[in-house]
Parts: sequence; structure tokens; C-alpha cells
Amino acid sequence: MANTYRVAVVAGDGIGTEVVPEGIAALEAAARLYGFELSWTEFDWSCERYAKTGRMMPEDGLDRLRAFDSVYLGAVGYPGVPDHVSLWGLLIPLRRGFHQYVNLRPVRLLAGVASPLRDREPGEIDFYVVRENNEGEYSEIGGRLYAGTEFEMAMQQSVFTRRGCDRVMRYAFELARNRKKHVTSATKSNGIIHTMPYWDERFAAIGRDYPDIRTDQYHVDILTAHFVRHPDWFDVVVGSNLFGDILSDLGPAVVGSIGIAPSGNINPEREYPSMFEPVHGSAPDIAGRGVANPIGQIWSGAMMLEHFGETAAARAVERAISEVLADGGVRTPDLGGNAGTKNLGAAVAAAIR
Ligand SMILES: NC(=O)c1ccc[n+]([C@@H]2O[C@H](COP(=O)([O-])OP(=O)(O)OC[C@H]3O[C@@H](n4cnc5c(N)ncnc54)[C@H](O)[C@@H]3O)[C@@H](O)[C@H]2O)c1
Repeated sequence: MANTYRVAVVAGDGIGTEVVPEGIAALEAAARLYGFELSWTEFDWSCERYAKTGRMMPEDGLDRLRAFDSVYLGAVGYPGVPDHVSLWGLLIPLRRGFHQYVNLRPVRLLAGVASPLRDREPGEIDFYVVRENNEGEYSEIGGRLYAGTEFEMAMQQSVFTRRGCDRVMRYAFELARNRKKHVTSATKSNGIIHTMPYWDERFAAIGRDYPDIRTDQYHVDILTAHFVRHPDWFDVVVGSNLFGDILSDLGPAVVGSIGIAPSGNINPEREYPSMFEPVHGSAPDIAGRGVANPIGQIWSGAMMLEHFGETAAARAVERAISEVLADGGVRTPDLGGNAGTKNLGAAVAAAIR
């Protein structure tokens, strides 16, 4: 019996609805070749739904997704609905409710994609950003006092737990073990004097369990500069929710189009579904024109296959992406061509072997 993986599909808004079908088609091609099955169930959770019902997803949304092996998400957010509504109404509840405490983003320079950095060759930039995805600076603890008066104030607490730090750091070390055996920590313990020294302390403690892995740490300000000046220094970079958020946009930016960057929101223990989505948003400026680059969506699908343990199929999808980009014959406008979403999606699907 072939393995069957149950996937909940949330295409969302804007170009999400255009790139998700290309992702599904490519993964179906991989499944046929590598002998497993994918069963897709679509959910219309989106800003459009919010406009009709006042909710991004039903109240029992998490319960409905609980039994799936993973969630394959396009993008959510659209003009007319405030971004904090779409984010806190759908993405954050899923990431937290399903303990997806690792946000994983590969940063890889591929042939055929122009990096904004001068003189960088494919192969020179190849690292992962591991962002803590559940706590840290993005907590709901805080509030306002004396609102609307001259004494008004706002406070927001950062939350760093030992469990939260240790588990994301361990994930980073385990990842590095199968790579170049080097983990870099993003810190700011010179300025943030309670939580960040604690983060450093936990990084040192977890690092002692991995004597085979080289470690270093940088304050996040200089680290952003190193991402631009020395992206070849890195293998796995681990950061708190806020620092990881910033670094995991900067990383993909130094290797080219936002349209190709993938990500995973991972529950490593597999107690809950993980969620795979491109880094980009719903791109209202190009939505509806059929020109969005589907590669970020397809590559996120490859990460999902890897999470399922279908490693050979995941590598095949990644190889197909690399080949099509290197060949350069079919390119969407963000890559300097004039092909449509469907053409590029079909080219990748056809290149999977
Ligand atoms: N995870 C998510 O669902 C997610 C992530 C980021 C932004 N958003 C939401 O998306 C909406 C738009 O946000 P934004 O404009 O800041 O970011 P965006 O990523 O949607 O777009 C930024 C720029 O990149 C271009 N771009 C993005 N994806 C592309 C693709 N696949 N192919 C070609 N070009 C692409 C867009 O045309 C735009 O010029 C907002 O509502 C925001 O909240 C959602």
C-alpha cells in the first residue's frame, strides 16, 4: 500500500489562489513518480471569507485541521482587511495552536537568479534561518493605560521560556548536524539585558550537548550586515521570534526574488500538523493577472514532502526548480521574463524526474 498524506489546503487571498494550484500539480507529479499519494482538502479561509462572515476561519478551525498531516498555505491578507486581522485571525492561531515552534527558511542562491549582491556564485550562499515561532517578542501580554490622554502608555512583554529557547535551539543543532556543522545565534544581549543574556545562556548550554558543532553569535545589528557582506559564513542561524522574522526576510532577499522563497512552520514532534507556505504575501499589486512566480509555493511543497519523509521526492522537486531556473527559458516577470504562473508551474512539474 502506498503511503497517503492528507493535506489541508488554504490558498487564501490574492496570488495565493494562483500559485497554490501550481504547487499541487508539481507535488502530484512527484507523488506519481515516487509512489505515494496526496489527498487534498480545500478550505476557503481568507479575507474574502472575513468580509462575508467576520471571521478569517470558523471558530473550530483548528479542530477541523487537527487530523491532517499538514497544511499547505498560499498567502493571506488583502486591502480592506487590516493586516493584523488576517495575521491574528488565521496564521498566528495555527502556528501557536499547533505548536509550530520552528519557522524554517532556506536561503540558497540558485543559478539563473540574479542576487542583488555583486560577485556571488551559486553554491556560495546556502544556509537556513531557524526562527522561534511561538513566543519571544510576539506575545499577547501587555496593554494600554490612560488611552487617549497625555499620560497614555503602551507596554508589551517579551516571553522567553527555557522550554521555548531550548527546543528551537536543539532543532537548529540537529539541522546543522547533517550540514556544515555550524550554528550561529542572533542575539542582542548588550542592549536587551534580561531576555537576551538568558537566550545566550541557553544557547551555550544546548551547544555543550553538541560538541561536534561549531557555534558563534552576533548581535543582530551586525548580523544583518554580515548577511549582506558575508552570506557565505553561515550554515544554520537561530533567532528569537522578532530577530528571526527580520533575518528570515533579509536572507531570501539576498538570494533574489521573493517569489521563489519557501518556508515551513514546523512542529518537529509531529503531534500537530505543520504548515508550509511561501515567504511572500498575497501581492495585491499583481493579483489576478496570472504572472505571479509559483516557485516559492512549489519549493514550500518540497519542504512538506521532506517533512513527510519523502526525501527523494523532495530532492527531485528542488532539482526541477534549479534546472528550470538555470535554463532560464521560462521566467515570470519578477525574474525578468514574460511567462505566466501556469507556464512556469508546468515547466517545473515537467522537469521532475
Ligand atoms: N504569510 C502570509 O500569508 C503573508 C506574508 C507576507 C505578507 N502577507 C500579506 O500580503 C499582503 C501584501 O503584502 P506585501 O505587499 O507587503 O508583500 P507581498 O509579498 O505580497 O508583495 C511584495 C512585493 O513582492 C511581489 N511579489 C510577492 N510575491 C510574488 C510572486 N510570487 N511573484 C512575483 N512577485 C511577487 C509583489 O508583487 C510585491 O511587489 C498584505 O496583506 C500582507 O499582510 C501575507
